Amino acid sequence: MERLQKVIAQAGITSRRKAEEYITAGRVRVNNKVVKELGTKVNPEKDKVEVDDIPIDREEPVYYLLYKPKQIISAVQDDKNRKTIMDFFPEEERRIFPVGRLDYDTSGLILLTNDGEFANMLMHPKNKIHKTYVAKVKGKPTNEKIRLLSTGVELEDGKTAPGKAKFMSGDKKKDTSIVELTITEGRNHQVRRMLEAVGHPVLKLKREKYGFLTLENLRPGEKRPLKPIEVQRLREIAVT
Ligand code: URA
Repeated sequence: MERLQKVIAQAGITSRRKAEEYITAGRVRVNNKVVKELGTKVNPEKDKVEVDDIPIDREEPVYYLLYKPKQIISAVQDDKNRKTIMDFFPEEERRIFPVGRLDYDTSGLILLTNDGEFANMLMHPKNKIHKTYVAKVKGKPTNEKIRLLSTGVELEDGKTAPGKAKFMSGDKKKDTSIVELTITEGRNHQVRRMLEAVGHPVLKLKREKYGFLTLENLRPGEKRPLKPIEVQRLREIAVT
């Protein structure tokens, strides 16, 4: 038996918190009866759960790691009909969606799942999952700038949390550098904004790591399912 809000979240309908709101608002029925009690236990295999009169049809949870190429939208749909990350899953019938976003021009590691609860847990601001980016930037950052990127940069939505920045290499002729940046937050365009703020606009950006996960053995556009042990470890690092 599982809690009703968890079953709704796992079906990919919405977050667990929103599911609680649906329940108290009387939008959820179990075996044809409206249930408003939070914490009601249901058997996901046997009980018929409906949200707004639609059966949730709990799906088998699925978890993927995709190497997103650049110039791909990391959303389920695009109103301008551009290619989205869903185009890399033509055979997947379950309602998967990305865990967070990567910019259209950013390549790299992105997770997809149909498990709303898992996705929300990873994206919650309190969960400081390390994300490592490699950026090609204009100019050559001084040690002082690299230190600033590590300790925190003042952005219009506040100072960034401490992270780790490393100067990797420079190209004198082209006046560009490669910088590695590990952050724990997930604000919009955060890496681009941080580097811009210290005077080194990003020319190219790739996410190489998400927690302990890497892009090993994948080329742009390729994906693999996560191993159960990886899903379990992600859950563990998300709650600690
Ligand atoms: N930071 C950015 O600026 N862009 C991304 O796509 C991810 C992190």
